[in-house]
Amino acid sequence: MFEHLLPPEPDKIFRLTGQFAADPRADKVDLLVGLYRNAHGLTPVLGAVKEAERRILETQTTKSYLGFEGDRGFIAGMRSLLLADAVPEARVAGIATVGGTSALRQIFELVRTLMPDAQVWISDPSWPIHAGMAEHLGLAHRSYRYLDRDSNGLDRDGMMEDLRAARAGDIIVLHGCCHNPSGADLTLSDWEDVARVCLATGAIPLVDMAYQGFGTGLDEDAAGTRLLAQRVPTLFVAASCSKNFGLYRDRAGVALAVTSQGAARDAAQGHLIAMNRNNYSFPPDHGARTVDLILHDAELRQMWEAELTSMRETITRNRRALAESLRAETGSDRFGALAAHQGMFSLIGATPAQVDALREDHAVYVVGDGRMNVAGLTEQTVPIVARAMAQVLG
Ligand code: LMR
Repeated sequence: MFEHLLPPEPDKIFRLTGQFAADPRADKVDLLVGLYRNAHGLTPVLGAVKEAERRILETQTTKSYLGFEGDRGFIAGMRSLLLADAVPEARVAGIATVGGTSALRQIFELVRTLMPDAQVWISDPSWPIHAGMAEHLGLAHRSYRYLDRDSNGLDRDGMMEDLRAARAGDIIVLHGCCHNPSGADLTLSDWEDVARVCLATGAIPLVDMAYQGFGTGLDEDAAGTRLLAQRVPTLFVAASCSKNFGLYRDRAGVALAVTSQGAARDAAQGHLIAMNRNNYSFPPDHGARTVDLILHDAELRQMWEAELTSMRETITRNRRALAESLRAETGSDRFGALAAHQGMFSLIGATPAQVDALREDHAVYVVGDGRMNVAGLTEQTVPIVARAMAQVLG
């Protein structure tokens, strides 16, 4: 059956990873995939995770099935991490998923099943999987303006104007914090505007929360999501534990639906469970169990929050150091926005030819749209990258 087929386009983010591995240059710098790297350029297992895993190993007596929704302690812990007390628990349905990507997938598929005519609104730019997944599922998608390419900040007016064209039942995908790929985030007053647009149009917001704790802090990063939960009748949240718990390959995530209490919540829970059952029956448990333990044990939680704070502070330091080095190299403030962005990523404003030049002439690898994983920088690589950027983009 495959004889007459060509392989699909390679993934936009992982496309260059193999090329990086094969690059023999000793001073090569990998700023591709969203991985946090410490001062030694490594992505170690967090201490809190190691300790939780040790406890699981010692105390777990069975690996028999859980319910289709997964570990209930994990779902409750994540609900409270994401929503705190913004809405009563009885309004929230939730399932554990195979990482944040599959939380999105379960929600998209649920939307397609229940509202096949819904359009999915995606920021321009966005994580490429948002549009790719909508297409894969046959959901119509539209883009809304998001980034002002001149200032490298939010195009607030353009965004709200575009979103006002959403129809009742459409889904508006929002990045909860640390916008991927731009690093430009909404302020609380922008979130208020989004809530107003959703109420006026009847569109349903879907918050993709992949980096909670990597921007300003756990509560600050979730403030927009909590605000929406309080304002709109229905909200979806897809959250990932890949980055903030460093559980990348273990695939822990949750899909939440905030709705009205009672029958609507029970219906949402039933439909989410049916998504898990039909797609993979049971979500993986190990990462979820690890997060459950960390969130509910005071000592582990404190340890994890300290490690998360340290990762966030390293990213912020990287951002400032890079912006300062670029100021020194270029004699201008052209890259000043890099210091103001939030989270792992920034768009550096490079054309595809400039991305190629960074890679070919300077061994600096960024994604083709000019997305840089700032969390992949170290004290040693900041000056190398700043010099390369100044030469290629300056
Ligand atoms: C990224 O955007 O680099 C990460 O979220 C990894 C992925 O799955 O694309």
